[in-house]
Amino acid sequence: MNTRMPLFRIAMPLLLTLAALSPLANAAKAKPAKSMLGNAAQGSVSFKQYCTGCHGDTGGGDGPAAVALTPKPRNLQDFGYMSKVDDAALLKVIAEGGAAVGKSPLMAAWKSSLSEAQVKDVAAYVRSLSKK
Ligand code: HEC
Repeated sequence: MNTRMPLFRIAMPLLLTLAALSPLANAAKAKPAKSMLGNAAQGSVSFKQYCTGCHGDTGGGDGPAAVALTPKPRNLQDFGYMSKVDDAALLKVIAEGGAAVGKSPLMAAWKSSLSEAQVKDVAAYVRSLSKK
């Protein structure tokens, strides 16, 4: 019985330490979900290249092509609306297009023009347009 004691003395503090650290580990795991989006500055480049024609230079939904479109391109500055679109939904509509999320197919799927990283970057830029 005595021979087991030292092991127990070592194992117990270890287990307690792990138990104490686990909330930290969970917090660290939870973080990436909040930062699913990429680099907004990089994203602005793709936005100017692919999105302004419809969404406008500053995302107001007033690009030159907007007059011809029904429904209109989303006003990406509309915080009231955009704050309800979570990051996963934002990434999905950009990558897979409006039709994939029950919206207008005029909002194209961009995953063939943009890499996954570029989709994350442009999504971060879109997000920055509606920051209050
Ligand atoms: C051909 C025009 C056109 C282009 C180009 C375009 N969009 Fe759109 N986009 C639309 C239209 C139209 C809607 C509105 C869809 C609806 O409300 O049914 C929309 C909606 C959106 C939405 C809102 C989705 C939602 O949840 O309501 C986002 C975000 C978006 N576009 C991002 C982008 C990004 C980023 C690009 C460039 C990579 C882009 N769009 C390029 C036409 C366009």
